[in-house]
Amino acid sequence: MASSEALKVAIANQKGGTGKTTTALILSYLLSRRGCDVLAIDLDPQSSFTLALGYDPDEVDKSVTDVFSEYVAFYDKRLKREKPELTIEYVKERVNFMDAKFDFVPSNPRLEAYNLQLGAMVGGERLLHRVLDDVEGYDVVIIDTQPTLSKLVINALVAADKILAPVELSYLSIGGLTLLMSTVADVKELYNRNLSWLGILPVKYEKRSVIVRENMERLKVLEEHVKIYPPVPKSVALERLLIERISIEDLVKKLKSAKEVLYAYENVVRDVEELIRG
Ligand SMILES: Nc1ncnc2c1ncn2[C@@H]1O[C@H](COP(=O)(O)OP(=O)(O)OP(=O)(O)O)[C@@H](O)[C@H]1O
Ligand SMILES: [Mg+2]
Repeated sequence: MASSEALKVAIANQKGGTGKTTTALILSYLLSRRGCDVLAIDLDPQSSFTLALGYDPDEVDKSVTDVFSEYVAFYDKRLKREKPELTIEYVKERVNFMDAKFDFVPSNPRLEAYNLQLGAMVGGERLLHRVLDDVEGYDVVIIDTQPTLSKLVINALVAADKILAPVELSYLSIGGLTLLMSTVADVKELYNRNLSWLGILPVKYEKRSVIVRENMERLKVLEEHVKIYPPVPKSVALERLLIERISIEDLVKKLKSAKEVLYAYENVVRDVEELIRG
């Protein structure tokens, strides 16, 4: 189905443990199951996405770090080389995640060094954008990011068309969205006019908890600026999926909550598909 230019979606939130990696994985999975050509990129030096797909980040032969190294070298010696050779095409892996296949670019802890290196480089905010300029043949690129507002995360926002922020329904997590929203506005103004919000995705929703329900109402105040998706329920289904690698159908049979989790993620999938198909 691949169109000429892929839709690039950054999954970001500077708070830790808000479900970014889980969301990147589930979206990559669901979108590829629906026939989209998906490229998923782990842009977090913690390499959780890489781990989740069964790779040892310390052992991966080729990673996004190698691509960054190649493109930085290209700009250092731009008069000597016509184009970067070690592109995404060269480092990507074809992964089988249960009954779906998608392309994946692993990360490793060495990627963290690029937060410093890109900071010292002219145009260091735009390196991923440049890397993705050389990528063809995908409908959508999903970028998982690290829990800070580092140069790597800014790179993801500069390269992206859309940002999706998974958020936990706690008072402090919701408070943290102000900083994220102003960062997105700054990136849009300074580097990437094309960037806009896909939305905020509340996760780990517990309908029986009064405080969680109250926080959901608090979050809805932002609705005039950003789409707030229906929440993803708190469920062990996602952890089970990673550990047991059973099919979605089997998981749904085994765990009632899995169905509700998938249903919530389908709302995002539908929007992404609509954007892809124009
Ligand atoms: N809907 C959910 N219900 C219950 N647990 C969830 C849900 N979504 C994610 N989790 C769990 O929350 C934990 C953190 O999730 P995840 O690693 O995806 O967050 P993250 O934002 O990527 O973290 P980091 O900021 O460290 O990159 C994981 O153990 C994951 O299984
Ligand atoms: Mg993560």
